[in-house]
Amino acid sequence: MSEDLTGRRLGHYKIDGVLGRGGMSVMYRATDTRLGRKVALKVMGEHITGDAEFRERFVDEARNTSAIDHANIVPLYDFGEVDGMLYIAMRLVDGSDLASKIKDGPISAQRALELLGQVAEALDMLHERGLVHLDLKPANVLVTSRESSSEHVYLADFGLTRRGATGHRTSTGDFLGSPTYAAPEHLRGEPVDGRTDLYALACMLFACLTGRPPFQGQVQEVIQGHLQGEPPKVTSLVVLPAEIDDVLRRGMAKTADQRYSTCKGLIVAAKAALAPVAGDGTPRRQGEVRTGPPSGAQPVQHYPGPQPQQPYPAAPQPQPQPQYQQPPRPLPPPGNDPVRLRPPMPVGSSSFATRQSNPAKWIVPILAAVALIVVVVLFIVMANMSGSGSGGSEPTTTETSSYNSNDIPTAVPTVGG
Ligand SMILES: Nc1ncnc2c1ncn2[C@@H]1O[C@H](COP(=O)(O)OP(=O)(O)O)[C@@H](O)[C@H]1O
Ligand SMILES: [Mg+2]
Repeated sequence: MSEDLTGRRLGHYKIDGVLGRGGMSVMYRATDTRLGRKVALKVMGEHITGDAEFRERFVDEARNTSAIDHANIVPLYDFGEVDGMLYIAMRLVDGSDLASKIKDGPISAQRALELLGQVAEALDMLHERGLVHLDLKPANVLVTSRESSSEHVYLADFGLTRRGATGHRTSTGDFLGSPTYAAPEHLRGEPVDGRTDLYALACMLFACLTGRPPFQGQVQEVIQGHLQGEPPKVTSLVVLPAEIDDVLRRGMAKTADQRYSTCKGLIVAAKAALAPVAGDGTPRRQGEVRTGPPSGAQPVQHYPGPQPQQPYPAAPQPQPQPQYQQPPRPLPPPGNDPVRLRPPMPVGSSSFATRQSNPAKWIVPILAAVALIVVVVLFIVMANMSGSGSGGSEPTTTETSSYNSNDIPTAVPTVGG
């Protein structure tokens, strides 16, 4: 067990508290006293610093972290050794990790896709550079909402990151890291590549949607599950569109060849599968109101079945939608345009007042009508006086109507149902 250095100084760092502990190191919240900024300081335990292999790994971690400049990878500030202790200083992410966000249950499908989409971006770049993270798990996904209007993700912990290599073992052949999200080839010590991380990403998506990893239990059971077991269907645990089961089955295929070729590919497929509950992937603007399950709730628990994709606000739907009721709207807006109201009428005016406002224009037709009546009456009187009469025609009482209830315009059909 590494001792707690809280309150002590390490070079120009003042250690303020513990952020997290790993096998090899402790992550501290610290202050860089030269710059006066807060940092996350990973310090390798003294008992391990003497171990050449672990020392080498720690140096590798610093190199790997600094090798990658990406918005979704935690930036490295400094690396060094003080009083026999190796340290890595990096950006302090003011938030929490994904593990703590899902420990009490699933997060919404939309949020899961948003967060893991950012992880996928970072991973694809890592893979393009020939690196494999190899320790993907929710605890290594840091989430903050302090840096922008939406949640921003930083992928952390490059302690096991390797340049495409075989397996991933200590010199004595021990598997390093957690098997909970580890791909079969990784557990077997076979060659690994980006698809090894993709498998772990699929496991994380499973965990976000269900609140539990695909295989759980004793370490051996978990390993056996990854090697030979069939992961449970997500839809057997929560109510979501069945298509997500196919996406996860492919993401977690036992052989890497059968998986998606990029991490973004997995997320794109998952977005399509979950579109009925997660929207169509179009980012919503902050502050946009939507009637539906509150953010962070578990909408998946009551998913009533496939629903048509719809941009918000939606056109009236032909079928009832118990889950996502749209606020009543008098006019379906065209496309993404904001609802336009009629231009306001001048104060004090109304359509009625407009008609009343100009009585003079009615005098002419009234006079014409009176003149016409007088002419007709005179004509009838003169005709009677002449004594010749004949039967008038029957008034028409039958009238067919072309009106049919089927002609009522129904709701605009939506796409993608
Ligand atoms: N840059 C950071 N800012 C804030 N918290 C962090 C940061 N890096 C890691 N943590 C927290 O510390 C924990 C352990 O850090 P990590 O780098 O994963 O080390 P380990 O190798 O010990 O797992 C993480 O799970 C996370 O909760
Ligand atoms: Mg970690």
